[in-house]
Amino acid sequence: MKKALVFGHTGGIGKEIAVQLTDRGYGVLGVSRSTHQFDFENIGKVEETLSEIHGVFDAIFVATGVLNGAGFPPEKTIKTIDAEAMAAQFLINTIGPSIILKHLPRLMRKDGAAHFGMLSARVGSIGDNHLGGWISYRAAKAALNQATKTAAIELKRTHPKAVVLALHPGTVETPFTENYQANHETISAQCAAKGLIDTLLSVSSENSGSFKNWKGEGIPW
Ligand SMILES: NC(=O)c1ccc[n+]([C@@H]2O[C@H](COP(=O)([O-])OP(=O)(O)OC[C@H]3O[C@@H](n4cnc5c(N)ncnc54)[C@H](OP(=O)(O)O)[C@@H]3O)[C@@H](O)[C@H]2O)c1
Repeated sequence: MKKALVFGHTGGIGKEIAVQLTDRGYGVLGVSRSTHQFDFENIGKVEETLSEIHGVFDAIFVATGVLNGAGFPPEKTIKTIDAEAMAAQFLINTIGPSIILKHLPRLMRKDGAAHFGMLSARVGSIGDNHLGGWISYRAAKAALNQATKTAAIELKRTHPKAVVLALHPGTVETPFTENYQANHETISAQCAAKGLIDTLLSVSSENSGSFKNWKGEGIPW
């Protein structure tokens, strides 16, 4: 049986990813705050949990994230940049997921195809930023994209069949976007999860290190 690991399997998108991977025949291990005290506000505990995960996985998703760092809503203007809010964004959306990257060489299958999807966001694209705003969230996801791309390059040397992608799930109907759905075309978590899994599993190792949306379309870095 193929094995999958889903970080943030209690979230709107993560839960659907875990359910659909199970339906596709994967044995899924979900890791979250409620199941493993896997909280990025306690990096020591995160490292401990990661070190207790043994074996290799065929598919790994990181579906954790926050939009309101330290309880602050995303900024509308650079005039409201706040150090505490920005630091919280970087801790949860960049540093925590990057600690997972550190463990990939050990956790990803080496003797065959292995797929890793990091849930990022289109607003983390610098090339696609035409609106401004949401500075801390954008910056934290842009930094996460850089860490993910760098991991893809490094893993190519030891895991030539690995696929590492940064993924945009669309604007998804989850608690994450409850205040923003009115202004955007939204999709269900089921639809997002299907698109993300299909995209990740269909990309070949030559295209590892790209940034794609849930439809499989490329996004500029
Ligand atoms: N929804 C969208 O439209 C949308 C759009 C673009 C990008 N994304 C990205 O997609 C990912 C998932 O979003 P979602 O809509 O599924 O959000 P969600 O329903 O709010 O789920 C967020 C997940 O992150 C976990 N989490 C939050 N704070 C954490 C912390 N301090 N330490 C460890 N885990 C933490 C949550 O754990 P608990 O269950 O314990 O709270 C939950 O599993 C995020 O990276 C987000 O940036 C979402």
